[in-house]
Amino acid sequence: MSHEPLVLGIESSCDETGVGVVRGTTRLANAVASSMEEHVRFGGVIPEIASRAHLEALVPTLREALDTAKVSLEDLDAIAVTSGPGLAGALMVGVAGAKALALATGKPLYAVNHLVAHVGVGVLEGGPLPERLGALLVSGGHTEILEVASLTSDVRLLGSTIDDAAGEAYDKVARLLGLPYPGGPVIDRLAAEGNPKAIRFPRGLTLGKFMGTAEEPGPHRYDFSFSGLKTAVARYVEDCAARGVEVPVADVAASFQEAVVDVITKKAVLAAKEHGLEHLLLGGGVAANKRLRELLAARCASAGITLRVPRPGLCTDNGAMIAALGAQLVAAGVEATGTDFGTDTGLDASIVSIPAPSAA
Ligand code: KG4
Ligand code: ZN
Repeated sequence: MSHEPLVLGIESSCDETGVGVVRGTTRLANAVASSMEEHVRFGGVIPEIASRAHLEALVPTLREALDTAKVSLEDLDAIAVTSGPGLAGALMVGVAGAKALALATGKPLYAVNHLVAHVGVGVLEGGPLPERLGALLVSGGHTEILEVASLTSDVRLLGSTIDDAAGEAYDKVARLLGLPYPGGPVIDRLAAEGNPKAIRFPRGLTLGKFMGTAEEPGPHRYDFSFSGLKTAVARYVEDCAARGVEVPVADVAASFQEAVVDVITKKAVLAAKEHGLEHLLLGGGVAANKRLRELLAARCASAGITLRVPRPGLCTDNGAMIAALGAQLVAAGVEATGTDFGTDTGLDASIVSIPAPSAA
């Protein structure tokens, strides 16, 4: 292909309906409709509500993206869609929509990995990604460390959460403290007024038996766990009630946040160092967190690792990240998936795009 590929990307894995248009490494449109407001009273994303909202938002969001980008469906070189990981019903809406568009227009369709797209979005800010790249993805739905030898062909999962996602922990702890959903931004703000050393909350999976050594890694050297931390906060709050004292909310927020951010940044930098990764990209909704950015920047700097953090609107779930990865796949000459594929709620991080059935 002589020109830069023009790709439409569709994202519907959680509560954001995103449609983006990218030409090569340039973002032309990034329309996002979120159903977050509808989940507020439940304190977390309700899959059925998210699916229905995707259904209502998909066509208007598609129209908005095409209008903003000033392109028509006929102009496209390819369409890309998130096929996993994510919520089953939510994924299905985007995938069905993308298949319909591909069938109607005859354009090649790529079924892409949501996690890898969080990394691929990096090309929209600063161009091609460096070699020896690591990625730390932290959101309401996932928490992973990836090794990205090649964005289009060689991605490996180094570590992930064994229970809650980091953002989910923020949301649950906010609920325990009587704070509104989503909990991340509120705790971030409150933590700035509290003392992060006031309460020593547990750091999940950091004991020697889990970590092991560089030579003999333990079973969870680069993995995370936040459920013990959440329980510790719950106990602390219950204990305050039992003693009839007011919960020191800002101190709990700051101490909880420090426990999360300390472990995430330490393990990400450790994984990068031990795998010779000289660059790290941060993605996911929790990337907006001030303390996370600050501590990660400091720890990367002392380890000689360069840190890349896309702007907040590109860190949270969006369609431009799917289009950006799609454009990289087209440019690399990777074969399109076609329309014969299904959603995969637990899609492995090493599968960048679903191969065409004939090539599988
Ligand atoms: O990527 P995202 O928009 O979608 C999901 O994966 O759900 O991430 C949303 C998550 C929520 O859990 C929210 O509480 C968290 O990101 N979050 C934050 C901050 N802003 C959003 N967590 C900590 N600090 C923040 N400033
Ligand atoms: Zn995501």
